[in-house]
Order: sequence, then C-alpha cells, then structure tokens
Amino acid sequence: MKQNLTIIMLIILTPFIIKAQSGKADSFRPGEIWPDDQGIHINAHGGGILYHNGVYYWYGEHKTEGPGGNRANVGVQVYSSTDLYNWKNEGVAMAVVDDENSLIVRGCVIERPKVIYNRKNNNFVLWFHHELKGMGYTAAKTGVAVSNSPTGPFQYLGSINPNPGIWPLNFTEEQKNSTYPDNMKSWTPEWIQAVKDGMFVVRDHKKGQMARDMTLFVDDDGKAYHIHASEENLTLHIAELDEDYTAFSGRYVRILPAGHNEAPAIIKRNGKYVMITSGCTGWDPNPARSAIASHIFGPWQELGNPCIGEGAEITFDSQSTYIIPVAGKPDYYIFMGDRWRPKNAIDGRYIWLPLEFDGDKPILRWYSEWSIP
Ligand code: DGJ
Repeated sequence: MKQNLTIIMLIILTPFIIKAQSGKADSFRPGEIWPDDQGIHINAHGGGILYHNGVYYWYGEHKTEGPGGNRANVGVQVYSSTDLYNWKNEGVAMAVVDDENSLIVRGCVIERPKVIYNRKNNNFVLWFHHELKGMGYTAAKTGVAVSNSPTGPFQYLGSINPNPGIWPLNFTEEQKNSTYPDNMKSWTPEWIQAVKDGMFVVRDHKKGQMARDMTLFVDDDGKAYHIHASEENLTLHIAELDEDYTAFSGRYVRILPAGHNEAPAIIKRNGKYVMITSGCTGWDPNPARSAIASHIFGPWQELGNPCIGEGAEITFDSQSTYIIPVAGKPDYYIFMGDRWRPKNAIDGRYIWLPLEFDGDKPILRWYSEWSIP
C-alpha cells in the first residue's frame, strides 16, 4: 500500500521535478522578472519579434541602471527562442559607438527596434526610432542597419526624416498649397483643425517628416511598411519601403490625423489589417486604442480600447510594442507591451497577453499566468 502511494506520488511529481531541474519555463507571467538563459532579466524593451527558420528573435532596447538608463548606452539587444517562453541572450545586435561624430554615439536615443527579413537580398534589416545625443526628442528620425545574420552584428547605414519633398498619397492639392500662421496656440480648435489638415506635413515637407514610435510590417506580397508616429506625434504615417527595405519608396499615407497615437503594432488577420496603438503620455500608461482597415493605406476605422476588466484604462500598466503571430497556430496572436520603469529603466517589465477577438474587434484581458494552448 505504502509502496503504491510512493509510486503514485512519483508519477504526479516527476514532471514538476524535471521542470524545476531544467529551469525551463512553460508559461508567461506578465509583469514579473523574466530570466533569460543566464538567469538575468531580459533586456529588450520596446521590442519586436522576427520569426525566421523556426526561431523567434526578440530585438529590443538595452536599458541600463539608474538615471540615463533610457538612453542608448549599449545598443539593440537580441534574444532567440523556439518556444517564446525561454530566451537565449544572443548579445548586442547593433552596438552604439564612442565616436562623437557618429549619429549612433553612446548616449543617443534608440527606441523600438524592429527587424524584418529581406528575401531578395537574403539579409536582415533593422529600423529604429533615433534621437540624436543631447537633442532630446527633437530630431524624430528613423535609423536603419543591415546584417547577414539575424543576431547581427548590424551595420548602421544612417538615419533620416522620411520622405523629404514628397507629399502623402492622401493629401489634396488644397492641402499642399495651404499656409498656416507661425506659432498658433496649441490645442485650440483652430490648431487641431490645422493639424488635421496637415500643417506639420507642410512644415516638414522639405526636410522630411518626423518619425518617432515605429514598427515594421511585411505584407503577403513582400512589400514592407514603416509605420511611425509623425507630425509631433499627432498623426501616424504608413510609409512603404523600397525593395531592399533600407529606404522609403516615397509612397505613404497619413492615418488618423490629429488622433495622437503612438506605439503602433500591427497584424494582418482574415485579410484585414489590425492595429493597436496608445495615446501619448510619455512613460506613463494610458488606454490602448485599436483600428482596422481592409487596405494598409486605409481608410482605418477606429475600434476603441481593446482592453477589458480591471486595469483596462491603463492597458494593464503597459504600452503596446508588437503583436506576435504564433507560428503553427493559425489565428493566434500575442500582444507585447512594455511596463516602463523610467527611474530604473532596466527594471522595465514585459506584458505579454493573448490577443483575442470578438468578431473583428481585438480584445485584451489580463491573465497573471498563461500558456499558449
Ligand atoms: C512613449 C514612447 O512610446 C516611448 O517609446 C518613449 O519614446 C517615451 N514616450 C519617452 O517619453
């Protein structure tokens, strides 16, 4: 009898003992410390995922401890995984440099790095939001780098304000020819109307448009898009990349003008494009937004806050950064968000939740621990 009980206990406990010994995770625990293969909290904030040849690569901002930890003191970090729970630190994919003449000098701002694979050139293309050292967030540039390996090293090609001298596809002749008084008072009804009408597009036409929070998206036809918060973070731009994915093709649209969206994340589902964004409140969380479109260039229809339940009004204390289509699981997606910790940026946490749907409307619910079914 006693022997039987021991055998039963062993059968029940063995999987847990094996799991504890291997240290392998088999669930997500949003908001908790997430150890990598070395037992160190993953350092890949504002990140994005590339799935290539059966491996997921997670690129993100390498943050450091203490004040200034949100600046690029190291570069873009990359991790790899085959199951999305357990991540191997693959090191620094693109490193900052100590040459003060370089735009990616240590101490600049490198945010929201995203990598896509270019089939034509069989290489990997990294884009990131780039602010120049000592200039706050005024440059609003996007930087690009390439590598022959998903883990880098990525070679930095340069940073730009997109589409100088080129008007958005959905800009009328009247909009192109409009003039606006200098120094209009912000947030008055006239100013909001002027923003909607494209005041900042006109202002930045010659030098190129602003590009802050960004993501990348590769469509089924191989065309890649750079989606970024432009026009002083008031309007999103969706801009097509060229065949190499290393430059803008010149075809771009403004969407949700004066909608004040940032942190864009996008998927294609059932032939429709679904986007999650946030409002603009610095490092503080705010209610997420969602939108859907039949064509990537719009029109986009707003669907409201995807979050439901306690914490919905602050996206469960997070901000969107990417949506992962899970390989081999049709119609299964994971929302990736950041819980920022600006006082000690390296302690920022990751809020990964299953992205559910009610018809076409994306839904996010809080789960303190969950697994892919
Ligand atoms: C919110 C953005 O989404 C972040 O990426 C970062 O730029 C912070 N603002 C800076 O305040």
